Formats: sequence, structure tokens, C-alpha cells
Amino acid sequence: MRLLVSETSPAAVVILAAGEGKRMKSRTPKVLHRVCGRSLLGHSIVAAAELAPKRLVVVVGHAKDQVSAEAVAMAPEAAVVVQEQQLGTGHAVRMVTEAVGEMPGTVLITYGDMPLLRGETLRELARRHVAAGNAVTVLTARGDFPGFGRIVRDANGAFLRIVEERDATPAEQAIDEFNSGCYAFDGTLLSDAIKRVTTDNSQHEEYLTDVVEILRRDGHPVGTMVATEAVEIKGVNDRVELAGTRRALNDRILEHWMLAGVTIVDPASTWIDVTVTIGQDAEIGPQTQLEGGTVIGAGAKVGPGCLLTDTTVGEDAVLLHVVARQSEIGDRVTIGPVAYLRPETRIEADAHIGAHVELKKSVVGPGAKVPHLTYVGDATIGAGANIGAGTIFANYDGVHKHHTTVGENAFIGSNTVLAAPVTIGDGAYTAAGSAITDDVPPGDLGIARGKQHNSDGWVLRNREQTRSAEAARRSRSE
Ligand code: UD1
Ligand code: CA
Repeated sequence: MRLLVSETSPAAVVILAAGEGKRMKSRTPKVLHRVCGRSLLGHSIVAAAELAPKRLVVVVGHAKDQVSAEAVAMAPEAAVVVQEQQLGTGHAVRMVTEAVGEMPGTVLITYGDMPLLRGETLRELARRHVAAGNAVTVLTARGDFPGFGRIVRDANGAFLRIVEERDATPAEQAIDEFNSGCYAFDGTLLSDAIKRVTTDNSQHEEYLTDVVEILRRDGHPVGTMVATEAVEIKGVNDRVELAGTRRALNDRILEHWMLAGVTIVDPASTWIDVTVTIGQDAEIGPQTQLEGGTVIGAGAKVGPGCLLTDTTVGEDAVLLHVVARQSEIGDRVTIGPVAYLRPETRIEADAHIGAHVELKKSVVGPGAKVPHLTYVGDATIGAGANIGAGTIFANYDGVHKHHTTVGENAFIGSNTVLAAPVTIGDGAYTAAGSAITDDVPPGDLGIARGKQHNSDGWVLRNREQTRSAEAARRSRSE
């Protein structure tokens, strides 16, 4: 992701992501848990990047190597600041101002564990902050957010301070306006005020929230903005919240595609990553999951029961119970029910893949058919070819993988084994049940199986008392 910095860009967006997230009870750092195709931190970075800030700063601490690797992977221009010990949100920001110096202009602070916060909301926060000429503007929300800081106002409703829940009086705890933890600051005033934060609170931490009160006491204008969607300020602290967040984000994604003209039959069982694109009039059936860089063409019918990862589906294709990874599926292709496309598979336009077929690193030409119970590995199948039921492309000799080529309009008889490397010429046939080890030239029929011999009356002689013998006797006497 590249930032397109302009004159109106904020000086910085700072993402706090140094905390451990103990309640996740995980070997994976909290901000690297994934929802809807991105890590929690990834979502924060994408939202921040929408503002095209002059600097994008990520504060890391716990599992700093892993977390900074993800930050840089998502935004190569991100500056990573290490906060060795997590001594509070104020301390984290002090580490930033000490590391990068004063940042004149607007500095937005947000967290690496708030994937529902939209870039649009941050942008509006910055816009209002600048328009009002505030020293700080706090993003708040109304509702019920247990554990969050409360926004304390005076009798006239003017902002006074933020009090943490554990430091709040019962009356303050009853306040229904909550601190999101996101702020737009004047960078110059922030650098000064952050040095004056004390640890005089129940956790003996440097609270970033105290900066807001310091600025107000200094006589600077302080404002708030209530988030339009309260859910945006929700963070992730445990796996219950992780699931709730995933659900909320997924709902938002599905709504976006439905409003764009996509039919989603059962939103409750459909999961679509933020990175997926879907064409108009596509229909996504129940129990379907679309992941990564998957692209669905207009009018395609995907599902019920598909799991597609980094897969392209052409226009008007129909997929039923398909698992596909890193594959390309052409226009009007039909696949399923129950097929497995492994990486580097390409199915060209109008081809058909039927039930219980597995493909890997293969190309199926336009209009070709692989209808039943077949394994296709390391193969090129020509246009219009027909692969009979139960064909196995034997690509592996126990040491190496080899390629098989099937020519245009070739016809592979049922239960053929194609022992690679082997080439079946254009328009060639193989006889059912053949184990083909040598090339079949164009237009030839390859037969590779024992010739049939019928032993006259064998059953009558060797299975005398059986129903088979009885049936045979009846039939022979007719
Ligand atoms: C903070 C706010 C609270 C607000 C809430 C919203 C303070 C003192 N309180 O509380 O008013 O309602 O967020 O979620 O700011 N972090 C660091 N370094 C640290 C401490 C925290 O990077 O030393 C990061 C964490 O990784 C996390 C974020 O800052 O992403 C918030 O920290 P957390 O400890 O969860 O703050 P809260 O107590 O929830
Ligand atoms: Ca938190």
C-alpha cells in the first residue's frame, strides 16, 4: 500500500499496537489475529492509509518482530516505534514523540485492535478537528461499552475530562458516552503535553486520556465527535469479541455487495473477505466462503458450499460444492458438485468439471469435459477433449512429477491411467481401462490392457449349487 500524501494530509496517524492482549490466550499476538482476510492490525493500517498521512507510525512492543513485520508488509513506508515496556497509552505516544520528534499538523491516534473503525470516520474526525481549530478532538460513542473510559462533561455539557472505568465514581460510571481511544491532536501541543502526564492512577500507567485534560486546563479548545456507528469503536480483547467483530465486519461487507447488485442467498452462512471482488448479478449460495484475492465474475453462481481462496471465477460460471485455491476458472465453466482445484489450475471457458474431480497445476482447454471421478495433475488438456470417468493422470513416479498432454478433441476412455510423461495426440482415443505408458499419435486409438477371454461354462462347472449357476442354466436353456 502506498500513501498519496498531499498538502491537506494529516501530519501522522499513530497506531498503538504494543499490548500483549493476554485475554486472547494465544501464541499469536492479538493484533495478528485475522478477520475477513486481514489481521486486526492490517485493518487499522488500511483505515489509516485512507487519510494519506505524511507519516504512518505503528507502536510495537509485545512480539515486536512479528508485529512490525506485518506492519511493514501492509505499509512499507510505515515507521515502527518500539515501546519496550507497556507503561500505558500515554507512554506509548511519548515513545513516538521522542523517536520521531515534533509532528506539526494534525496527529491522529488509533489502535491496532479496532478493525471496525472506518477510514471515513477517521477522516471526518480530522476534518472536524481542523475546522474547529481544536487542540484535540476525541472520538466518542454512545451505548454500552463496559471497561471503556467515560466522557465527563460539566453542567453545560462542555467537555471536562476522560475518566477510566476503574478510576470512576459510581456517578461517572453511569455516563453513557464512551472514549473510543481515537483522537485527533494538534501535533505541536501533543509533544509538549505528553511530557506532563503522570502515573497518578489506579494502574500507575501514563494515560493518554490525561493529555486531553491537560490541554483543556491550558485553555485550549477541546472537542468531541460522536461516531455515527457506535460499533466502530469496539475493540477486540478476547476471542468472543474477535468472533463478534468478524460477524459485524462480514455483515458490512455483504451489505456492500448486495447494494452493488450481488445476490447473497443466506448472509448468515456466507463469509467474504474485504479483499474479494464480485461482479453484478452474481449469486452467492449458502455455506460459501470467499477468501483473499478471489474475484467472482458477473452473473456467476457460486455455492452452496464453496470455499474459494485467491481464485478467479469467470462470468456466468456455475460452481457447486467446490474447494479451490489459486485457480482460474473461465467464463461459463460449470464445476461440481464436489470438486477440488489445487493451486495453478486453469479451467478455460465453457469447460465442465464434474463430481469428485481433483485437479492440480493443470490447464483444461475451452469446452473440454472432465465429468466424473478423476484426478488431473500436471496436465494440459486440449480444447474439446473428453476425459472418461475414473481417469487418473499418474503424474508422480515416486521421485519426480511429470507432465501429461492431451490433445484437442481427444477422447480418454473410462478408467484410463495416463502414466506421465505421456502425450495423447489431437483427436486420439484411448480404450477404456487402458494403462497408457506410451504416446498415442493424433487420430490413433491406444489400447493397453489384457485381451478378454470367456471360459465356456466355467460357472456351471465350478459354482454348481449357486444362484449364479441356476440363473445361467435358465438363460442357456431358453
Ligand atoms: C483505553 C483508554 C480508554 C478507552 C479504551 C477504548 C487510556 C488510559 N484508556 O483503555 O479510555 O475507552 O482504550 O478501547 O488510554 N497500548 C500500547 N502500549 C501501552 C498500552 C496500550 O501500545 O503501553 C495499546 C494496546 O495495544 C491497545 C491500545 O493501546 O491497542 C489500548 O490499550 P488498552 O490497554 O486496551 O487500553 P484500555 O484500558 O482498553
Ligand atoms: Ca482495550
